[in-house]
Amino acid sequence: MRSFNFSAGPAILPESVIKNAQQMLWDAKDSGIGILEHSHRGKVFVDILAETKANIRTLASVPDEYEILFLQGGASSQFFMLPMNFLKGGTADYINTGTWSKKAIKEAQKFGTVNVPSTGEHNGFTEVPTKHKFSSNPVYVHFTSNNTIAGTEFHAEPEAPSGAWLACDASSDIFSRKIDISKYGMVYAGAQKNLGPSGVTLVIIRKDLVETGAEDLPTMLQYRTHVAKDSAFNTPPTFGIYIIGEVVKWLLSSGGLTHIESYNKNKADLLYNYVDSSDLFYGTAKEGSRSLMNVCFRCKDETKEAEFIAAAAKEGLVNLKGHRSVGGMRASIYNAFPVAGVEALVAFMKKFEGRV
Ligand SMILES: Cc1ncc(COP(=O)(O)O)c(C=O)c1O
Repeated sequence: MRSFNFSAGPAILPESVIKNAQQMLWDAKDSGIGILEHSHRGKVFVDILAETKANIRTLASVPDEYEILFLQGGASSQFFMLPMNFLKGGTADYINTGTWSKKAIKEAQKFGTVNVPSTGEHNGFTEVPTKHKFSSNPVYVHFTSNNTIAGTEFHAEPEAPSGAWLACDASSDIFSRKIDISKYGMVYAGAQKNLGPSGVTLVIIRKDLVETGAEDLPTMLQYRTHVAKDSAFNTPPTFGIYIIGEVVKWLLSSGGLTHIESYNKNKADLLYNYVDSSDLFYGTAKEGSRSLMNVCFRCKDETKEAEFIAAAAKEGLVNLKGHRSVGGMRASIYNAFPVAGVEALVAFMKKFEGRV
């Protein structure tokens, strides 16, 4: 029996995707060869790549002026690849909302000046800043749309000053709601939360920016290389791209981003409402900044937390331990996480609290 998996990533995938993949592993589209064994230059995979890109374009209404890339090295490699290509000794503004923003800042500092226009550091990253002191002429403004560890999320994009474009690490909330890609220069996301397995990173980038990237970089580290070769300059992560394609099809067939947005809101509300009404638990993120993807909560009596996590696991509610840097509990309830799992968690929390 499968458990309800609250892991922050790699994370739960839609059941139908996993089931279809079992057959594809054995024999992809009656080719007599499993998907893992197909050449990235062969028709079976080339068709999957093209279809996946087209479906992403439809799902998120990605304008023609943007390229869709599948890269390797995780979102962490985008932390350096982005400034390496575009900063060129200039200034970029990085909103600091926690661990992942800080890692992005550290890498960007190697390629230019980083201004931090706003930070949530003073309140332990429990809310996302809304007021920003931008530098006079930044190349771009970078933000992390969902903070997987702190459990906070921007519910609207920050407004970049004129002349600057928005760059976003959307690793943990990509395609969890509607997104207006035209507001961005670049959006990137490691796949392992909302899109597929680890090992592939989705990058959506404005074509005209790609052209401006530095040319004195290793070939693999220039975006233009991957645009010119349609993400197949070298062997791409074929299985990961196939799974992303299936997840995107699943999203499209279940009603697209409008549907998933309300589904996700409903799930998060169920959990936050219970936590707010509880005498034992409390949510750590401030209202207005609460993540719909990673619900972080604690016990008022912290000595009860280990017992809660262990008892929940025995009931098939697994991976509820918060990130080691913050402790407490974290329920990651990404797109594929079913509402039944959230209901089961709330019922268990009530029981644990002695309410039923
Ligand atoms: C918001 C965010 N950005 C970046 C990363 C790092 O991603 P990767 O492991 O793909 O490098 C993570 C991983 O959890 C994340 O949650």
